[in-house]
Amino acid sequence: MCGIVGYIGEKDSSEIVINGLRKLEYRGYDSAGIAVLQEGKIEVRRDVGKLSKLEALVNINPVHGTIGIGHTRWATHGEPSARNAHPHVGTTGEVVVVHNGIVENFLELKEDLIAEGATFNSDTDTETIVLLVERYLATGLNLTAAVRETLKVIKGAHGVVVMSSRYPDQIVAARMGNAGGVSIGLGKGENFVASDIPAILEHTRNLVFLESRQMAVVTREGVEVTTLEGDKVEYEVHNVGWDPISAEKGAYRHFMQKESREQVRSLTDTLAGRVDFDHCTIRLPQLNLTEELAKRIDKIYITACGTAAHAGMVGKIYLERFAKIPTEVAIASEFRYHEPIVTPNTVVLAISQSGETADTLAAMDEGRKRGATLWSIVNAIGSQAMRLADGYISMQTGPEIGVASTKAFTAPLLDLYMLAVLLGEKRGTLSEEERRRLVADLAVIPDIVGQCLDREEDVVKAARELKYIRNALYLGRGVNMPIAYEGALKLKEISYIHAEGYPAGEMKHGPIALIDRDIPVLAIAPKDPWYEKMISQIEQARARGGPVVAVGTDGDERIRNLADYVFSIPATPWLLTPVVTVIPLQLLAYHIATLRGLDVDQPRNLAKSVTVE
Ligand code: AGP
Repeated sequence: MCGIVGYIGEKDSSEIVINGLRKLEYRGYDSAGIAVLQEGKIEVRRDVGKLSKLEALVNINPVHGTIGIGHTRWATHGEPSARNAHPHVGTTGEVVVVHNGIVENFLELKEDLIAEGATFNSDTDTETIVLLVERYLATGLNLTAAVRETLKVIKGAHGVVVMSSRYPDQIVAARMGNAGGVSIGLGKGENFVASDIPAILEHTRNLVFLESRQMAVVTREGVEVTTLEGDKVEYEVHNVGWDPISAEKGAYRHFMQKESREQVRSLTDTLAGRVDFDHCTIRLPQLNLTEELAKRIDKIYITACGTAAHAGMVGKIYLERFAKIPTEVAIASEFRYHEPIVTPNTVVLAISQSGETADTLAAMDEGRKRGATLWSIVNAIGSQAMRLADGYISMQTGPEIGVASTKAFTAPLLDLYMLAVLLGEKRGTLSEEERRRLVADLAVIPDIVGQCLDREEDVVKAARELKYIRNALYLGRGVNMPIAYEGALKLKEISYIHAEGYPAGEMKHGPIALIDRDIPVLAIAPKDPWYEKMISQIEQARARGGPVVAVGTDGDERIRNLADYVFSIPATPWLLTPVVTVIPLQLLAYHIATLRGLDVDQPRNLAKSVTVE
């Protein structure tokens, strides 16, 4: 969940590392620090709080040197504080470490190290790593070998980057399991290390992605990758196409604002190259979907967390409807603790923006163990979820930095729709006429989403009235039921207002007891097959005094008469309404949070990629 950056070259590393950390602050933001080799000595600057505090500290007390590492932290062991902030230096002052992950056997190792005479200066598990590296260096091993031995004794999943004043011309980086990525960026006479590529994209697009149990020795001249066992790895250099500018906030106040506004472009890009509107056909080449495979699939498990799981819930409806494949949405953190019934004809389909979510990767591992075909829908290029899969669909939305996911929710909705139509075609479960209509319906979506974004002022007005609410109930049905979950999640994660999403038909089985004039009901009621049922739901809420905010369709006077606020969407092919109805709900959460003066991009206690279990 933490962000890591490293630099070795001829330039001032502190500037490059802090710049990189700025692009990763969304990963973790309770403390930050850098370590630079300055005149043969490791100098550390670190502080609790946001990166701006570290920047202020470095301004007052600068460090200069051509090799450095840095970290933004999301606390696991030890409260957020300056002493627990990374980098951590060992007892000799010659070794420094930044780390992402959890040392699962930390207590045991700490006891051993204390028994050997080591002193701990923080409450973190990471300190065991630096002390172990020192322990192995003291036996005469070189830095790489000392890191290798350390990795063999620490349990858990890790991204680790180590620097030593005894080895002033190298950085050692390693990846163990799925605690987030470790990428090496290749430059000329300089090289970079990063947990996430936006940190270094402005310097290079040529990247090497470490696999689990691989280590890299990074020097100014190049990189050498070995396995944990010491065998040389012939690595592949990936040229990544992401535009570094798209990872910047530009004129927008927040990344979330920018990313919501980008949805017209991201949805256009999602369709580009995949849908041939002239012939009404769909291509998903990276999925490696043969007709033989399509025909024999007996079940799809969609596995994901949070927003990605909500997208999966909509996808289930598409897959069952178009391709007639029984589909189950399995929350990734639970998947491996059930007994999923997987046959050689089962597909496990992971959805993940970051492609590094530990639970999602663990669910993929479980699927692999049980013999499923693995697919993923993933945004981060080169991430584990992309590499582990037998086939993937790339979201093509560009980097998403705001912790609250927006464009990485709507893009997979279209990906799942395209996948279901393609499977329906290959399995013969869709008639030619149906397929053509379903494909043609996609064409209008980016424009409709754009129209909804242009109606932001209606949402702002409602947000001004609703900013002090303490609870909210989101209701939806059918294809828009997951949008109730998603709308509620957006509101709670960035505005800290308690919100529940419910299938509207369940209201009478309990939640209706909550409704009074202080609990607004957000009803998602576009013109879809459940419209009449949603209208009666709205009436029931009104009868109990609950203020109603409705997402309805242009020209719907019944909704206008019933609801206190209406977010109107243009008429949309009903199966695709979730891509549209979610837009005002994203904007509502955003505006309520900003009106409450909250930090939208970095909400408390959250991190963009959740790389711990
Ligand atoms: C989204 O707004 C959330 N911050 C969160 O639920 C997120 O969708 C979830 O953690 C999954 O992340 P992933 O898509 O990177 O796997």
